[in-house]
Amino acid sequence: MDSILIKNGLLTDGDSSRNADLFIQDGLIAKVEPSIDISTLPAGTRQIDATDMIVMPGLIDAHTHYHLVSRGTVTCDSFVQGSRLAAFGGVTTVVDFADHNKGQTLVQSLEYRLDEMKDMAIDYSLHQGVYGHGYNKTIGKQLEVLKARGVKTLKIFTTYRNVGYLIENRDDLLDLFKNAKRLGMLVCAHCEFNPMIEKISDTWKGDFSPASHALLRPAEAEGKAIEVFGSIALEAECPLYVVHCSSKCGLDAIRALRKKGLTVYAETTPHYLFLDRSYLEGPDASVYVMTPPLRDKSDNEELCKALLDGEFQVVATDHCAFTREQKLSSSDCRTIYPGIPGTEEMLLLLNTFRENHPSMTMSDLVRLVSTNPAKLFGFFPRKGSLEVGTDADITIFDPNQRWTLTDENVHSASAYTPYRGFKVFGKVVTTILRGNVIMNDGSYYGIPGDGQFIEQS
Ligand code: URP
Ligand code: ZN
Ligand code: ZN
Repeated sequence: MDSILIKNGLLTDGDSSRNADLFIQDGLIAKVEPSIDISTLPAGTRQIDATDMIVMPGLIDAHTHYHLVSRGTVTCDSFVQGSRLAAFGGVTTVVDFADHNKGQTLVQSLEYRLDEMKDMAIDYSLHQGVYGHGYNKTIGKQLEVLKARGVKTLKIFTTYRNVGYLIENRDDLLDLFKNAKRLGMLVCAHCEFNPMIEKISDTWKGDFSPASHALLRPAEAEGKAIEVFGSIALEAECPLYVVHCSSKCGLDAIRALRKKGLTVYAETTPHYLFLDRSYLEGPDASVYVMTPPLRDKSDNEELCKALLDGEFQVVATDHCAFTREQKLSSSDCRTIYPGIPGTEEMLLLLNTFRENHPSMTMSDLVRLVSTNPAKLFGFFPRKGSLEVGTDADITIFDPNQRWTLTDENVHSASAYTPYRGFKVFGKVVTTILRGNVIMNDGSYYGIPGDGQFIEQS
């Protein structure tokens, strides 16, 4: 394991930015001081000059679907490929998802997913799905076992009744929230109100083109799901984490719940901030299908404003990549594989937004993509900080580079970026995972299997 001195960088964590040097030894941040002289460090210490660079805690993408087996196929970014593209994006930890497998308990489902993830080259944690098909009275006990195994975040769906994901009975949901409250676990919800979606679909007279996807799963369904599931969380006095909030309707429902006193943590994604549903009309429309669908420009604007106003705690990507061939294999929005890549682009897009909105500081950005997810999912200060004694997960970012995203200069196995043609500010120069350089200057050094499962505490 290398000893590394990072000299002359602008150290930026979730609290502040300051010029300082940072010394890494044995995988941990060993020293942070205004100036560290390399001659005082062990022989063989490698020096990285970070003049004019930002040195931040490794990013956490709190919402990924690498190697997701679904709808008779699998997403194209495996754990090996996902780790690689993440390193290029300055991401050192992801929180992926364990499905609730039919016929398995929650912890069996978790173990199944952990076994699949053995080849990760960056660190990882999991949100555990709790689905209607597996819901029964033992859930409280099952949650206790899950928590003891290091997973404290649960993922529920408010839709997908047809595949058994939805927990339909209100009392069961209340029971789940009450158990989560009892155990200090966090319920994360994909919010689209199923009865509204089924009703629209039952009476739909239009076509099933990609553009129709946005009408079949409208923003109002997001707002309604947040309202209804939020009312259950409120009754249980249990916080709620809303994943991938996509619309003003959703945001308004979050605001209303907060006014009623509920703690609601809100996550949004780069695509709901920076892409709108006009992308669902071009020849490449299938490529932009995900759930919830892209919304109107006015939704982008409202979400961006909310981001600046501190209404979102987390930006994550919902990285769920399919190749262009997979995406274009259908033009029917009911069967197009839903999801897009995004982990690699996350920091670039947010930093570009920050450059255009100077009221947002670099610490604000670091909180959204590192410190807050670390705190909410139980990894702080081990992850998400630059504190001495914590994991040396470090992203060195050059804010002065200007370049354009193309399909050729990103690393997802999907071989495209939804942000093609976007001019971005900044570039990740070096990514360090627990003291090991896993990406430097465009070359990848990650080793499959070196990633560690990070237990949530
Ligand atoms: O379309 C998407 N987002 N696919 C991933 C699964 C989900 O619902 O987040
Ligand atoms: Zn979702
Ligand atoms: Zn997702």
